[in-house]
Amino acid sequence: MSQVEAVRSACGESCDPPRHVAIIMDGNGRWAAQRGLPRSEGHRRGVEALRRTLRAASDLGIGYLTIFSFSSENWARPPAEIRDLMGLLRRFIRNDLADIHQANIKVRIIGERHHLDPEIGRLLQEAEDLTRGNTGLVLVVAFNYGSRQEIARAARRLAREVAAGHLNPEEITAEVIGTQLDAPDLPDPDLIIRTSGEQRLSNFLLWQAAYSELVFVPTYWPDFDQAALESAIAEYRRRERRFGGLAARAGT
Ligand code: FPP
Repeated sequence: MSQVEAVRSACGESCDPPRHVAIIMDGNGRWAAQRGLPRSEGHRRGVEALRRTLRAASDLGIGYLTIFSFSSENWARPPAEIRDLMGLLRRFIRNDLADIHQANIKVRIIGERHHLDPEIGRLLQEAEDLTRGNTGLVLVVAFNYGSRQEIARAARRLAREVAAGHLNPEEITAEVIGTQLDAPDLPDPDLIIRTSGEQRLSNFLLWQAAYSELVFVPTYWPDFDQAALESAIAEYRRRERRFGGLAARAGT
């Protein structure tokens, strides 16, 4: 019996898995360097870790899994590495989309889609369109994503509404801003995991992370697996979530 299954059987529904887990998949380059391999091999093994994590998240009954697959700032990497990462995304969608659909996973994309290579744009759209009706795990792919950019997009949309006379500035609340984010219908992440030992958010889900529990694990992303996910969830369960109040609420 896995750690999470053992806890669940011991404490029932109050130990259901976190509804939304988000992951910063970090450490591909260091994993490769440690082995004298090219960074591209680290990214390739990172895709394998992603496949394992998707299966584990589905099996554990997680509702939403958000992955940081390419950040707005990743364009600063050398052109060859950017080509590798784009190639991996293309191959991942081409090779895995049928299996993802078969597994009843619904794909959502967040991030800036304008100015992307048209083929990448088409593949991202195809993934969303094909899986739209699925009812299992929601896989949110943050691609060409930066949280400050997302918030700026939301601010621009609201500013246009104000300029057009459709919205009074006094009506702009946190809830209203939330409705203009890239995927406003999704719940905020309960748990954000970052692999590789780095302890920062790097422009990932800054708005949505207001009350997320952050778990930093020393594992490099290519070594991440179901046991690592379960252990991060076990750490999350030990946290007391207060949401700014005083009364303790259990970790789920
Ligand atoms: C961080 O490792 C990882 C990324 C920048 C990209 C994450 C990408 C994958 C896991 C594979 C691609 C998957 C899809 C679906 C596109 P790093 O390169 O920053 O590692 P380092 O900090 O050790 O150098």
